[in-house]
Formats: sequence, structure tokens, C-alpha cells
Amino acid sequence: MRQTPNLRIPGPTPVPADVLEAVARPMVDHRGREFAALIQRVAERLKEFYLTKEDVLLLSASGTGGLESAVVNTLSPGDRVLAVSIGAFGDRFAAIAETFGAEVTVLPYEWGQAARAEDVGKALADDPALKAVLVTHNETSTGVTNPLEEIAKVVREADRLLLVDAVSSLGAVPLDTDGWGLDVVVTGSQKGWMVPPGLAFICLSERAWKANESARMPRFYFDAAKHRELLHKGQTPWTPTVSVFFGLDVALERMAVEGLESIHARHAAIARMVREGVRALGLELLVADERYASSTVTAIRCPEGVEVKALRAMLEDEHGVVVAGGQGKLAGKIFRIGHLGLVSEDDIRQALDALAEVLPRAGFTIAVGR
Ligand SMILES: Cc1ncc(COP(=O)(O)O)c(C=O)c1O
Repeated sequence: MRQTPNLRIPGPTPVPADVLEAVARPMVDHRGREFAALIQRVAERLKEFYLTKEDVLLLSASGTGGLESAVVNTLSPGDRVLAVSIGAFGDRFAAIAETFGAEVTVLPYEWGQAARAEDVGKALADDPALKAVLVTHNETSTGVTNPLEEIAKVVREADRLLLVDAVSSLGAVPLDTDGWGLDVVVTGSQKGWMVPPGLAFICLSERAWKANESARMPRFYFDAAKHRELLHKGQTPWTPTVSVFFGLDVALERMAVEGLESIHARHAAIARMVREGVRALGLELLVADERYASSTVTAIRCPEGVEVKALRAMLEDEHGVVVAGGQGKLAGKIFRIGHLGLVSEDDIRQALDALAEVLPRAGFTIAVGR
């Protein structure tokens, strides 16, 4: 068995040794010059990954904090909102908006399917009062990536706000914030960025900042205007997760060296390898149309007669391979292999070999020819 587990969940993802070392650095004054240079450096670098000229704010929170921030900084109670949901995280985004008083209409899809831009366009045409659209770029619970560029196009044409959960996509798969006209884009440090949990990143377009001026939902910790004002001074309004900033600084340097296009190509190739590997074992993917198969996480239907819990325990205890189970209504029905951030073909090969070894004992006969 490997010394460190092969952490094949869709976040938190494995953290490279140099990032871990950085995280262990002694504290600095978060109102001092060193931290000011650090936050401005990482915020500037993040723009290159977001493909934006706008500020990228760093919130000390998990991805959900970033989603809450997206909602409360652009909307008011009573605003009508269209929540496109293809899985558990789409439902969560809708629930946040509802919690803060938005009138939410959900555009739901069967789990495993991607949303269709034409449906979004029709919903917006049918209800001119809809002010904003919430969408998950990559639905981690189902392993499906929405056609975000197409969806953005119809939302732009209808002139509404588009709030994007890019928690498990940005930094790993193509996303062009300014080019596609996305209004709010949120991600989290523990996903493609190879950094421990503790930071959410959020970027608001000019339109979103304009909406912010009249947005009345209650906010304090996640007040974007306060975060922007303090970022310009090299600070955060509240005590930040300083250690995670140290790690992010090193991780972004690694990512800059690899280059955006190489990172995207590596994720796409590894995802293909996962899909081909699991199919070769005779297993079935959850994703209905492979064009929308995620490059960061693959959901696999658990074969009849096999218990997800037992399968995961065997993989972890006997091979050091940690995979995720299903969420919500897919609990017990699927398992998921994460492949974002620090991931190599070797990691995937080892995970597939482990699956091939344990599946027959877990109750599944592997396809002939493997
Ligand atoms: C697509 C998506 N959205 C939101 C979240 C929530 O992020 P967190 O668990 O960091 O709050 C996750 C985390 O798995 C995610 O994958």
C-alpha cells in the first residue's frame, strides 16, 4: 500500500509537499506589509486563472461561503431568481437564495444530465421578472459539466445576472469570466487549486457591482464591498486564514509554471482515462451524454449486489484508495472518483487496479478481457 492515501475524492484534494511546507510557516501580521504583498500578489494571479480584469476577492470560508456571498451581495429579498439545478450543489445554491428571501424558481434536471441553454432562455423569456440565474458549472455530485458558455450567452441576451458556482471547475477546466460575460464566479481553495480548505474566491463583474449598490439582502462577514475596499489596502476585513494564503501563493506559482492550457489538457486526458478504465471493468457511468462528462470528477453507478460503503472501505483499507460515495438521492447508488488538482496517470492507474482487485470480492464479476 502507498504511504500516503491516494485521495481520489473531489475535494479536499491532495496538497503538494511544497504547499504543505508553506502552510506550516510561522504567522505574520495580517495587517502588516508582508501579508499586504502576499494578498495582492495572489489576488493579481487569480485574475489570470479567472480570465478577468476585475478584482478577485479572497474570503476565509469554504465554497459554500462563497456561494452565500454571491447571493447576498447581488440580490434583495423578494427578487425572482432562476436556479438551474442538475444535482446536490445546484439545489444548495437555490436553498441559499431562498434562505435569504429570494423567490426561487428551480429549473430541475434528472441527476446525471446537463442543463440545456435553450431551456434557460425559454424560462427567462417566459418570466421577465426573473432578475438572476444561478448555475453550477461542474456538478460534483453527478460528475456532469454544464455548457456554461452557451448558458451564459442566453442569459446575456436576456440581460439578467448570472451567478456561477465554479467551485469544482475553475482552475481545472476552461472558464472565461469576462469573455463569457459571467457576473459572479465562485470557487474554493480545496479543489483544483491544490490548497487546503479555508479560502473561497469570488469575482464580480461590473454589472454585479452595480447590482451590489442596491442589493438589500443582509450581509456582514461576506460583504463584498468591504472585502474589495480592504483588498486594495492589502488586507481583509476580518482575520484571514493566513496559512492557507501561504499555501495558495506556492500553488499558484506551480500552476503558472504548468500553464492554464496544459492544466486543462491534463484534466481532460485523465478524465478520459478514468472513464475508459471504469468502462473496461464493465461498470456504467452516471453521466447521460458523454459530451458533458466532467473533467474533474467521475460518477459511477454501483453495480447491483455491491454495497458502496463496503466497496469504499475495501479500497481504502486494502489499497489506500479513497473514493467518494453518492450524495442526496444518489447515496448508496453511485461512487465517485475525483481527479482534479494534483493528479497523475499513475494515481488513476493505481485506483483502477485497486477497483479491479476488490470488485470481484465485493460481489461484481468483471468484464472479460480486462
Ligand atoms: C460544485 C460545488 N459547489 C459547492 C461546494 C461547496 O463547497 P464547500 O464544501 O467548500 O463549502 C462544493 C464542494 O464540494 C462543490 O463541489
